[in-house]
Amino acid sequence: MISSRVSGFYRWSLGERARWVARWGGPSDGVAAERVNILCGPNGLDLTRADQMVENVIGLHGLPLGVALNFVINGRDVLVPMAVEEPSVIAGASFAARLVREGGGFQTDSSDSEMIGQIQVIDVVDVWSARFKLLSAREELLQCANECDPVIVGLGGGARDLEVRVLESTPIGAMLVVHLVFDCLDAMGANTVNTVCEALAPRIEEMTGGRVGLRILSNLADRRLARARCMIPVEALDTDDFAGEQVARGIVEAWALASVDPYRAATHNKGIMNGVDAVVVATGNDWRAIEAGAHAYAAQSGRYCSLSAWERDNQGNLIGTLEMPMAVGIVGGATRVHPVAGLAVELLGVQSARELAEVIVAVGLAQNLAALRALATEGIQRGHMRLHARQVALAVGAAEHEVASVVERMIAEGHVRPDRAEAILAEHRREVNPGSHQRGQ
Ligand code: MEV
Repeated sequence: MISSRVSGFYRWSLGERARWVARWGGPSDGVAAERVNILCGPNGLDLTRADQMVENVIGLHGLPLGVALNFVINGRDVLVPMAVEEPSVIAGASFAARLVREGGGFQTDSSDSEMIGQIQVIDVVDVWSARFKLLSAREELLQCANECDPVIVGLGGGARDLEVRVLESTPIGAMLVVHLVFDCLDAMGANTVNTVCEALAPRIEEMTGGRVGLRILSNLADRRLARARCMIPVEALDTDDFAGEQVARGIVEAWALASVDPYRAATHNKGIMNGVDAVVVATGNDWRAIEAGAHAYAAQSGRYCSLSAWERDNQGNLIGTLEMPMAVGIVGGATRVHPVAGLAVELLGVQSARELAEVIVAVGLAQNLAALRALATEGIQRGHMRLHARQVALAVGAAEHEVASVVERMIAEGHVRPDRAEAILAEHRREVNPGSHQRGQ
């Protein structure tokens, strides 16, 4: 197995990077060539396929796809495909994974892939008695749920539990909400769970004498959790300007604010989601579902707070942990339809939805570490500046061979702005080609 630790990867040409990634996992020459064609040739998502995915298709909307390096997860070297438009995210994840590698890599774990389907019951005269009847009929209802999807039941998934909540005080009075807990195995499960909720509704109406309203899964997937932990030796945090001890302390102090203050927690969690979403998108999963679940889970105590925690062990090492809902699948949905998403799952080498969920949470934790380390030391802007300057230079029309000069001059000046980029670009063109400038006058 080749290592995910590669130095200077960013200096290779795009073609060299794609060809190297295509060889990941030791495929045959034919498979590697096909992978390159999916990544940067004609076999990625095309209009015909796109037209089958959603309605009213008029084109494709691309996103850069990169790979984060250096990840070791449960002792395995992992290459992480990330689809994201924000500069620094992939570099940040790779850098943090390198630090974590020095402490042995990430350890991860997850619960079963249980989703909750909600069935709302209104107009019930005696809510507590209705609850009693539904719970007494638990076995019958679970069996009815299992009949909806014999395939998933045959594979070992299916209905696991029934909970009935009485909501005594809502704007329209008391109501019941039935929670059907369903193990979706390797599917994200939204379609299955929605189908099951719809199938149970008539029987629930009969039993309660009420009227069923909503029949839909909950994105607060708090029975489908994935968690990651990492340890960074304090010396690994040393920088030219800061001692590791100072950096570790700064990271814990930064987390302390996020753990009590929703204004900071929102930004702290956004940093985690930078990593999480990029892998969720790359693998063709539903990032809105993941976002909704993450933020609802962060607010479950009644106050929105940080999803991760940072502390020191008794040797002073920095320890990070992250736990969050992670309803992702590796079968069905865009993962199988979108060629690049399918390849992303293949490159990750995950065999189950739980394994994918665990990798994603490890990347979220890495991303959080990268952001907190920058914030606790030189600040976030210095690292961002060069990448931001590159985007500004491209946006004002600099060609690839002109970008570096425009970037360097803007950085040297300390002004990264479109007006400066335009002026510098014009000046650069005059210097490189004075004749054409004169002709243009
Ligand atoms: C920017 O995309 C993400 C950060 O704001 C996260 C954080 O503040 O922790 C840098």
